[in-house]
Amino acid sequence: MAETVSPIDLTAGSTAELDLPRVKEALARDGYAYVRPVPEGFDYVGQLSRLGAPIPQFDGVVVREVRPESSVDNSVYSASNTRELMPHTEWFEYPGNPPRYVALWCVRQTEGPGGETTLADAYEFVDRLAPDERRRLEASVYPWTPSAVLQRLGIRFEADHPLLEPVGDELIVRFPCDDRCDSFDALMDGYLARGRQFFQDHEIAVRIEERALLVWDNWRMMHARHAFTDRVRHLRRVLLAEHV
Ligand SMILES: [Fe+2]
Repeated sequence: MAETVSPIDLTAGSTAELDLPRVKEALARDGYAYVRPVPEGFDYVGQLSRLGAPIPQFDGVVVREVRPESSVDNSVYSASNTRELMPHTEWFEYPGNPPRYVALWCVRQTEGPGGETTLADAYEFVDRLAPDERRRLEASVYPWTPSAVLQRLGIRFEADHPLLEPVGDELIVRFPCDDRCDSFDALMDGYLARGRQFFQDHEIAVRIEERALLVWDNWRMMHARHAFTDRVRHLRRVLLAEHV
C-alpha cells in the first residue's frame, strides 16, 4: 500500500511566487515537492521557469495536457488513457539528457478512485545494487526508439544510453517502462524486476489536487500512475532542464 503525502505550502504568502529556496530544499532532501495551496491565478510556467528552462515536448508545446484522449485506448502504453502506468523515468529513451524536473498540476481531479501519481527514490534503489552490477549498468549501452504511440504520430529518433549514467558528481537513472528498447538482456531484466519490486515496496502516492503542484527530480525519482475510471481527470505537465 502506497504511503500518502502531505502537501507543504511552498508559496510565499500572497505574492503568487514559489518559495524557490524551500522548493529546492525539498527536492534535494526528498526528491520531490508537493505544493499546496497554489494561489489563485498562479503562473505555473513562469514560476517553474525559475527552477529550470521549460523543454518543448514531443509535439513542440511547453505545456502538455494529460487527460484521456478518445484516440488512445488502454491497449497501448500512454499517459493519454486511464490505465495504470508502470514505474519509469521521463524521457529515458530520448536523445540527450532527460529533463531534470517534471512538474504536474491539476486542472480537474477524478472524483472516482485511483489516478494517484506515485513516486519512489531510485537513488536509494541504486545504492542497494552490488558494485559490479552497478558498473555493468553504467557500461552497457542500449538502443532506444519512441513508443508505439509516438511512432504512430510520426515521431522518429534513435538514441543510445546506459541505464545508469554518471554526469559530473551526479547520476542520471533511466528506468524504462515498456517496449522502447528491443535489446532487453539479463542485466536489464534483473534491474527492471528489482526496481519494480523496490517501487512497489517504497512508493508514495500523491493525488494531485486542484490548485496544487507536484514537481520532482527526474534524474533521481521513478514515477508511475494508478489506474482510474473517471475520464474527467485532467492534469498539465511541464518538463524542465536544470539551470546551469
Ligand atoms: Fe511519465
